[in-house]
Amino acid sequence: MSFELKDYQEAAQAVRNRLPDGFSPVAAVILGSGLGGFSSRVEGAVTIPYTDIPHFPITTALSHKGELMAGCIAGQDVLLFSGRFHFYEGYGMDETAFPVRMLRLLDIPTLIITNAAGGICPDFSPGDLMVIRDHIKLAEGSPVRGAHLPCFGERFFDMSQAYDPDLRKMAHKTAASAGLHLQEGVYAYMTGPQYETPAEIRALSLLGADAVGMSTVPEVITAVQCGIRVLGISCITNMAAGVTAQRISGEDVVEVGRRTADAFASLVEGVIRLLK
Ligand code: HPA
Repeated sequence: MSFELKDYQEAAQAVRNRLPDGFSPVAAVILGSGLGGFSSRVEGAVTIPYTDIPHFPITTALSHKGELMAGCIAGQDVLLFSGRFHFYEGYGMDETAFPVRMLRLLDIPTLIITNAAGGICPDFSPGDLMVIRDHIKLAEGSPVRGAHLPCFGERFFDMSQAYDPDLRKMAHKTAASAGLHLQEGVYAYMTGPQYETPAEIRALSLLGADAVGMSTVPEVITAVQCGIRVLGISCITNMAAGVTAQRISGEDVVEVGRRTADAFASLVEGVIRLLK
């Protein structure tokens, strides 16, 4: 399936109609698995179920809610997506990135995007947070493949600073002042839903990956094309296959995400406080 400009416009208009007067978001946040608790920090929120937004996909993943909140965090207006779309659910990459183009039409300058990921770097431990410095996408396809819509940017675009260096600095500054341990590294995108094999993880490690996950990259590519700056943060919920002898379970991934939720929420809140 592929979208037309009017689909994004209808979605953006439906959201605009529900936003409080004078609401002026500095950022949108897309929450990853098990990190949904962050939404409890939003004050004065208006909640818009995804089912009320035309053309919006419906999330099916474990622990994802499926609603957009508009409210205030750290004194700043933000939009918060609880529930995102994954390729492994059967969506096309353009569908997983639909919210991002809607954000462009709502003039949102910054996207903070979070996920659960498996740790490949041997210095990482479950519960660590990692700022994404860059990504590797070996899966074929692109979320911005297909008819070129010039209002969302150039057909061929630079990805050399996909993860905004200033936002990464802000994340490190926030972590340092909150006494939070923060890693930085390269995120490898795998489509899932199966976790990787140990041989795949060894290959990703040789290619320079520090963490692996099944989300984020389609949204980031779409955001970069249309000029939204991106901060990506991974919660390392487990060590990737074969890094330790332990088997990976979806429940453990969600549980470690939950345990890390407070540190993660403080980090994201601290960055939001610093945004102009
Ligand atoms: N692999 C892929 N995705 C993940 C993992 C993993 O080990 N952990 C959490 N999301």
